[in-house]
Amino acid sequence: MARPGASRAGGPRYSEAMNVFSDRRARLAQALRAAGGGIAVIPTAPARQRNSDNDHPYRHDSSFHYLTGFDEPNAWLVLAPSGESTLLCREKDPAHEIWDGVRLGPAAAPAALGVSDACDVATLDSVMPELLAGHGAVWFPFGVHAALATQVDGWLATLRARSRRGVQAPANQRDLGPLLAEMRLRKGAEELALMRHAAGISAGAHARAMRFCGARFRAAPQGSVREYEIEAELLHEFRRHGAQSPAYPSIVAAGANACILHYAAGNTELRAGELCLIDAGCELDGYASDITRSFPADGRFTPAQRELYDIVLAAQDAAAAATRPGARQREAHHAAVRVLAQGMLDTGLLDSKSVGNVDAVIESAAYRQFYMHGTGHWLGRDVHDVGEYLSLGEAPTDQPDGLGNQVLMPPSRQLEPGMVVTLEPGIYVRPAPGVPERYWNIGIRIEDDAVVTETGCELISRGVPVAATEIERLMREGSR
Ligand code: GLY
Ligand code: MN
Ligand code: MN
Repeated sequence: MARPGASRAGGPRYSEAMNVFSDRRARLAQALRAAGGGIAVIPTAPARQRNSDNDHPYRHDSSFHYLTGFDEPNAWLVLAPSGESTLLCREKDPAHEIWDGVRLGPAAAPAALGVSDACDVATLDSVMPELLAGHGAVWFPFGVHAALATQVDGWLATLRARSRRGVQAPANQRDLGPLLAEMRLRKGAEELALMRHAAGISAGAHARAMRFCGARFRAAPQGSVREYEIEAELLHEFRRHGAQSPAYPSIVAAGANACILHYAAGNTELRAGELCLIDAGCELDGYASDITRSFPADGRFTPAQRELYDIVLAAQDAAAAATRPGARQREAHHAAVRVLAQGMLDTGLLDSKSVGNVDAVIESAAYRQFYMHGTGHWLGRDVHDVGEYLSLGEAPTDQPDGLGNQVLMPPSRQLEPGMVVTLEPGIYVRPAPGVPERYWNIGIRIEDDAVVTETGCELISRGVPVAATEIERLMREGSR
């Protein structure tokens, strides 16, 4: 959307066209009608103070931005089932704009954003009762915005006080979250284009980090590289390609730190002979990417590292083969777990004399000693994106809960073209009695972003090598 003078210099480029947002609002209005009517209220995220007069970098609410393309704080969208839309946003204010940047202002909003109407957000508490009056239900995202339910209650109380004048207050409050999640789960062509772009930038950043390490250890084989130096390479690559920020805190884990699942890049020294695990992805124009690679600091896997690496890669291949339209989202996890469990038995990480064969390892979940997380999640505007994982319309059946128990729950939902998932198996070996020492402190995860296509899936993050020999070749080629 062309919106010269956007609120932040260098902010989003509005690569989605205005009619994309209008179309989404029309589809949400249709969903409201299909669900019995009612009016929807969607605030954006609040600005958050860091300290004193410093705020954290502002990040809009994903659903609000999905429906408006508007990235200023202190804004609300109200959508009637007729499709009429009202934006409440900050009024123009030349004095504040000198400090904080240009504001769009309500007068310019309809032309810029395609909304039917706009007004000053300072009038929120007087305008909202007017907009809600006469509707049978008010929809808003439950459990997302602190104090929103209290605000809605306040507007309803205002309306009820006018009931003797014939004003009707909505009698029902309904959760808008599932309607928005269903829409956001199926990505449109413009969203997939942005996600491919984001994944390509992130893949380039991972490749840059590998080349950087390769060059450093070639120049000084006995030296070391600090995790934060590698993180800086990632950030450099994200920003120089126009991504606004990382989509989540970058994990850069040297050696044993890779066995800490949510380790943040710190200052540990990475040394020759160790693996480096990077889980990092950029956010581009509101869309996340999420890639993990594990590579040898000095560009050469040790035999023990390579054995485990190839098992994890085979597990990811199995997960990708299970990711296709009509397959259940959970099938990728089951496929990966089977390969990982067999690999744990083959390498002696698990002793078949105590844990039995691969079926027994899966049934008891003994593999969780070395693989304790799921194999993927929805990806979109949020790195762990919205979307129901279960097929709630189907009858519950007994299923493994991944912890060694059978539980009664609906089946996992079926994949459809346009859904995007991550595929991220791993093996993490903490020193423990009975675990072969040659594998101690090796942590490996391989993660790619998969778009479900008509026939299978497309891995959109493979701009960085994944095969061990190709990683070694890239690191040898080295200079950046
Ligand atoms: N980077 C977060 C995750 O992989 O789920
Ligand atoms: Mn992930
Ligand atoms: Mn990740």
